[in-house]
Parts: sequence; structure tokens; C-alpha cells
Amino acid sequence: MPDISSTVAPPPVIHREDYRPPEWLVPDIALDFALDPAATRVRARLEVQRNGEHAHPLRLDGDGLVPLSVLVDGAPLADSWRLDGGALLIDLPGDTHIVETEVEIAPEANSQLMGLYASGGLLCTQCEAEGFRRITFFPDRPDVLSRYTVRMEADRTRYPILLANGDPVGAGELGDGRHWAEWRDPFLKPCYLFALVAGDLVANRANFTTRSGREVDLAIWVREADLPKTDHAMAALKASMAWDEHVYGREYDLAMFNIVAVSDFNFGAMENKGLNIFNSRYILADPETATDADFDAVAGVVAHEYFHNWSGNRVTCRDWFQLSLKEGFTVFRDQCFSADQGSAAVKRIEDVRCLRAAQFPEDAGPLAHPIRPESYIEISNFYTATVYNKGAEVIRMLRTMLGAERFRQGSDLYFERHDGTAATCEDFVRAMEDASGEDLTDFRRWYSQAGTPRVKASLSHDAPGGRARLELEQTVPATPGQPEKLAMPIPLRIALFGERSGEIFGGEQLVLLDDEKHEILFEGISERPILSINRGFSAPVIVETNRTADDLAFLSAHDDDPFARYEAMQQLMLDTLVARIAHGSADHAPVIQAVRDTLADPALDAAFVAEAVLLPSESFIGDQMPLVDPDAIHRAREALRTDLGRSLLTDWREAYAANAANRYEYSPTAKGARRLRTVSLGYIAASGAADAPALAFDQFGQADNMTDRQGALGVLANSMSPEREKALAAFYERYRGDALVLDKWFTTQALSTRDDTVEQVERLAAHPDFTIANPNRLRSLVGAFAANQRAFHDLAGRGYRFLADMVLRVDRLNPQTAAKLVPPLGRWRRFDATRAARMRAELERVLAAPDLSRDVFEQVSKSLA
Ligand code: ARG
Ligand code: ZN
Repeated sequence: MPDISSTVAPPPVIHREDYRPPEWLVPDIALDFALDPAATRVRARLEVQRNGEHAHPLRLDGDGLVPLSVLVDGAPLADSWRLDGGALLIDLPGDTHIVETEVEIAPEANSQLMGLYASGGLLCTQCEAEGFRRITFFPDRPDVLSRYTVRMEADRTRYPILLANGDPVGAGELGDGRHWAEWRDPFLKPCYLFALVAGDLVANRANFTTRSGREVDLAIWVREADLPKTDHAMAALKASMAWDEHVYGREYDLAMFNIVAVSDFNFGAMENKGLNIFNSRYILADPETATDADFDAVAGVVAHEYFHNWSGNRVTCRDWFQLSLKEGFTVFRDQCFSADQGSAAVKRIEDVRCLRAAQFPEDAGPLAHPIRPESYIEISNFYTATVYNKGAEVIRMLRTMLGAERFRQGSDLYFERHDGTAATCEDFVRAMEDASGEDLTDFRRWYSQAGTPRVKASLSHDAPGGRARLELEQTVPATPGQPEKLAMPIPLRIALFGERSGEIFGGEQLVLLDDEKHEILFEGISERPILSINRGFSAPVIVETNRTADDLAFLSAHDDDPFARYEAMQQLMLDTLVARIAHGSADHAPVIQAVRDTLADPALDAAFVAEAVLLPSESFIGDQMPLVDPDAIHRAREALRTDLGRSLLTDWREAYAANAANRYEYSPTAKGARRLRTVSLGYIAASGAADAPALAFDQFGQADNMTDRQGALGVLANSMSPEREKALAAFYERYRGDALVLDKWFTTQALSTRDDTVEQVERLAAHPDFTIANPNRLRSLVGAFAANQRAFHDLAGRGYRFLADMVLRVDRLNPQTAAKLVPPLGRWRRFDATRAARMRAELERVLAAPDLSRDVFEQVSKSLA
């Protein structure tokens, strides 16, 4: 293994335990931007204040900045400042001073998309977590809160619109075709919430009256051509504002709320105070170009960023180890919002599917970390499914344990106590504890321990005695740096169903498994009971039970908790698939029967049925196995798909016909019908029916919406039929001018189950429309491909080489986005010796590359350890 440690010092590790309060505060800052894509001049005027008794210099973080001038109290103090790393150190005699600096930056050369950068003719910013130091010298940490005044000047023709946080306080003309605008944000904020945007934008405008009667002007700013695609986001914004008042008692606090959509963005969106900046894929939606899933994602992200105004902005994080304080809580809030807008059951199924696809593997691999990490090299690597999605599950467990009313009292207390300050996860838990009177000492382990707990549940029945006994046992697996674990308090919603009567014995119970072992006795159990456990997915754990295929089939038909019902079907499918992979054959009959019954149940809505009849993904099947065999998994899953397709062909055709619509409509019912229709089409194709490609091509061609069109394209993309190429070509021609839709064209091919997907992906990487400079396009091909288990794990290692090459290329432009591509290679321990060696070899090749970023270094070195 190449040794780089002897030549380059490894980047420093930051530890949570080392937190110290800031030595200098900045109560007030005035920024002055002379905007220009090639050379923007930034002048900053900071009022600084010594914090506590110490004689340390003022330290202002900087990344790639050169001070053109430094003034203290108006005077150029020649040798009282120096540079240390990128930071500016200034010796200051007194306790308060005015410090002024001037720098020049080049937004159009900023390929990292952190700090001030250019995107499609706009200038915009992204500062979270540590991008502000790429704009000006400043103590770049979330516990330094300041009042901001921002003045911008720019060319009027290129940049007619100038936006920043807070309220506009002045604007005017300058000579030479330039103009200026000034904004002031009355709220204290950390610098990661700073934002500005300059560009030729138009707004979708609306207004909202808060419940106390405050009028708020809402605007969603986009390029003119995109204006018709902003109504859905606007409706979601208004709904979010009303929801937060109603559910959390939280009102908006400025006279204006602006959202800007940009096409080059490292992640989803950013909650800058009063000026949210979004990846355009989470704003723009119309039926022709966005699927139902896209519409849902737009509403969910708009809500998420809006909710941050309280959970993130009014109360922010003391340090970045507390990230889940705002992210876990805000994801939980947006999940509940979406559940309230549509089908709560389907939303819960989607959220759990996402947790299992992204977070469980993370928690089981070399990058596992608690939702409140203990250390990091690069904080950008910790915007993870663990911090976000497991963080949301932890908040959800609190609500489950305390009940909705006490949970609300806790959140009220939290907001009231910490408003205007930078808080910790501990502060949140203490507010919940104080408001509820509940002792949450052990519950704090969810913040400190990584790893997904496993719960073994075995139910036995003593028929003559009319008693049942449920034995529960938990284990929390070892994770990097945490070999030993303490038992977690696990809230499990449980019910027992009578096998013959179908009745629940005594209603649902909430059991808190807070020890390694726990036993529960049930009396009056007159017939054999069937266990329904972790209903609603009440805890983010893996449950193993001694339930038979018949028990699972029973629950999939009778459980009154929709999530448990879905879960029973999934478990039945998984057990069948795992058995087939292990023994080469398995009895498909119970799955087929259960799917038939589900399709025929008139009480179920189409959206739920579509979720329930889908087979678990190949990756999720792999997660159940000690060693993942991608080819065997693929064969077993395809065999079951084919069998389901053939055995139920008439049922699928009926469902397909019954769920056809005459005209597009956006409603929960219509969405469910579209989903079930395309799922049915997939099974008809899996059956090998001769007319399947023609049927899919018809759907593709006749669709009046993207959900149906992309659904059909996805089915065709897996086929060897001539219709496949025809549809791909037609899709390309129709949408080549629309970047977000073209992303779908790349993704659909990268996710194909065909044998030649690796070759196709390599070919697509050379397509003129492919670029690694745009994160959406990069993810649409490379990210999607790495999630295609069988194609990525091509035995010859072509997928691994492709991904490692991409990591190296992207790292030179955009380290944060490059680092996000690493985790699939880090899963090598879960694969056979040949694959593991090839994956390791690629990681080592990346690690040996010169000038690796801290971002990629951290992910690769941890993946090899
Ligand atoms: N706070 C933003 C959000 O959740 C995401 C910021 C991501 N930053 C990063 N460095 N990855 O809405
Ligand atoms: Zn967030």
C-alpha cells in the first residue's frame, strides 16, 4: 500500500470534545460587493468584541483569500496582522475594534460551488458549512452570530436583480450601466446562513398572511423560461407556512421570503435567512417534465428549507457536531408535513425505504458514525443519511414515547429557551425532558452510539393456559471506534392478532425495550397469536422474528397498521428470495398468493398496493446476506418477478387497464393509479408477454405526463426490444434542451437491469451532454450507476474502475461532490474475495493520487481502515 504519510502531513482531525467558545464575537458586519464574474471585490467591516479574558489575537478564517488591505479602527496597521494557513491573525489591543478587510475573488473560476460562484449566468452563494471563508475573512463557525448589512453593485443588464438576506433598504443607479442595492437582516445569524444572488431573474410572486396578521411577500426567482414551472413550489411554500403555524406554533418573521433556483448546486437546497437557494430540480415542476415523485420531492424540500427558519435559523447549532439538531429535527418536520398533505401510510413506507437504502448500509460500514459525530476531518462528509434520516427517526421516537402533546410542549420550550442562540443536541433533549418530566438519560445513547440495533423477537403460545410470551433481545453491533455498546431504549409498537378470528388481543401496546433482554406475558390469548411488531416502524432497528410464511401472509392481508402490512409482505418476499439464493430454489407460491390477495383487496388504495407488491431492491436483498452475491441476487429476484408476472398476468392486465386515466390530474388518487399502472406494466414485461414492448411503447408515446412516460421508458430500458432504442431516441430528441429531464435519460439507462449496462454507462460518460461540472448531471449517471448493484459489481471490476476514475476527475473540480461518490467502493468487506480485492485496489489507487482533497482523503482512508 502506498505510503503518503511520509510525504504529506495528514489533515487534522477535529474533535467534539475540543469545543471552546469563540474568543472574539462579531455583533455586526457590513459587506460591500462589487460584483463581477471574473473579479469580485469584497469589502468587509466587522465590529469585533473580545469574548472573555484572554490575550489571543483575532483569528479570521479564510480559504484561498489574499488580503488587499487590513484596517483596524480606520488605520492601516502594517505589521499587526499575519496569515496562518488560510486564516488572518490580527493582534488587537482593546476589547472592541472595527476591522476592515478587502479581498478579490473570481466566482466564474469557482468550480467547488462553495462560496460565491457563477451558475448559468447568475452569481450566487453557498456557505454551509464553511463556504463563507471563501468570500471574506471571518470567524467561520456557527456560534458567532452577527447582524448583517449587505451592499451589492453590479452591471444592470447582466444582473438586474440583486438579492440578499432580510429586507431591501435601498437601491439606485451608478454610472457606467451599473446599479446597487442594499439589504439588511434584522436577525442575528451565523455566517453559514449568509446569501446573495445577482442575475437576470423573474419572480413568481404571492403573499401570505401569518396568523398574527403579518403580511409576507413571497417570491420564487427563476429564469424567465422556467416561470411556468414554479406554481407547485409556491403552493408548497404557502402550505408549509400554514402548517408550521398550526402544528408547531411557529410564524414567519420577515416581510419577505425569497427563493432562487440555480442549476449548479452541490446538494438539494439551502435555508439562508429569508433567501433560500435551491437546486432547480427541487423547484421546477410541471406535468410534462416532472414525475409525481419529483412533485413530492419539490414540496418536501420547499417545506424542509422553510421549516429551517425556526429549526436551524432562529435556533442554530453551536458547532457542526450538532448538525442533527437542525437537520434530524427538520427532516422529521418535513416528513410529517408531507404525510399530512397526502397518504401518510405511503409516505412512511417511502421514508423507511429511503432509510434502509441509504442509512442502514452507512451504519453497517466503515463510515458509520453516531447522529452526533465525535470527530471529523471535513464536515461536508457528515451531511449524511445518518445525521439527516436516522436523526429524524430519533426525533420521531421521542414523539412516540412522549406522545404528541408533551412533544409539542417540549418543542415550545426548546424554541423559547434557545431563540436567537446557537444550541446543542443536549439542549434539545433537555427541553423535552423538562417539559415532559420524563427521564431521557438512556435515550441519549441514540445520539452517541452508531450502528443499527438488532431486535430478536420470539413469540410462544401456551394454548391450554391461554398465555403468550414474547421474548425480546437486542444487540447493537460494533462500529468503527465503538467496539462495545450499551443497550438502547427502543420503543416498539406491538400487537397480537388471533390467527382464526383476525382480532387484535387487547389493542396495540407500546413496549420500551431498554435492556438487553425483556419478556412480556400476555393473558387471555385463546387462539394462536401472530406478532405484529415495530408497527409504523416505531424504531430504526432490524427486527428478526420466528414468524412463518403463513404468519407473514396473514399479516399482509389483515394487519390494520398499513406499514406493518407492507412490512409483512416485504419480509415474506425477502425470506423467499434469501432461501432461493441459499438453496437454489424456493417455493414462490406464498408470495404469489399474497400479491394476488393484495391486488384483489377492494379496501386498499392503488398507491398502497403499488408499494406492497414491489419486490425489495437487489441492494436491500444483499444487505440481508453475510456476503453479497450480486448475480445470484439478480437471478433470484428476476425469477420471482417472472413467476409473479406469469402467474398473475390476468391480474396485472386488469390492474393496468383499470388504472388508465383519460386526462392528467394531480391528486393522491391519480398519483396512486399512475404508480400501480406502471408497476403492473413492469410485471407484464417480466412475464415475457409478447405484447409487452408494444404496450410500453404505447404508454411512452401517448403519455400526457412525465410519470407515465418515464415509467414506460424505465420498463423498456430493461428490455432487448427494438422499442427500447426507439423510445430512448425519441425521449432524447424531445427533451435535449431541458437539463433536468435529460438527467432522467441518463439515470434510466444507468439503472437498467440489462447485461450490458456497464458498457452503456461508459459510453454515456463520453456523450456530449455528459459533464462532471454539473452535480445533477454527474449524479444522474454516476450516482445512479453506483446504486445499480449488479452492474456496478461487474466481476471484472469495470464498474469499480469507472467510479474511481470519476472520483479522481471530480476531485480536482469539486471535492465535496467527489467525496460523495466514494462510499459504494467502501463496502468491499461485504463482497467475495475477488470483488473485495478489486474494490480495495481502486480505493488505494485513489489514495495514492497527488493533491487529494481532505474530503476524498477522509472517505477513502476510512473506507480502507
Ligand atoms: N442545510 C442544507 C439543508 O439541509 C444542506 C447544506 C448541505 N451542506 C453541505 N456542505 N453538504 O437543507
Ligand atoms: Zn436541512
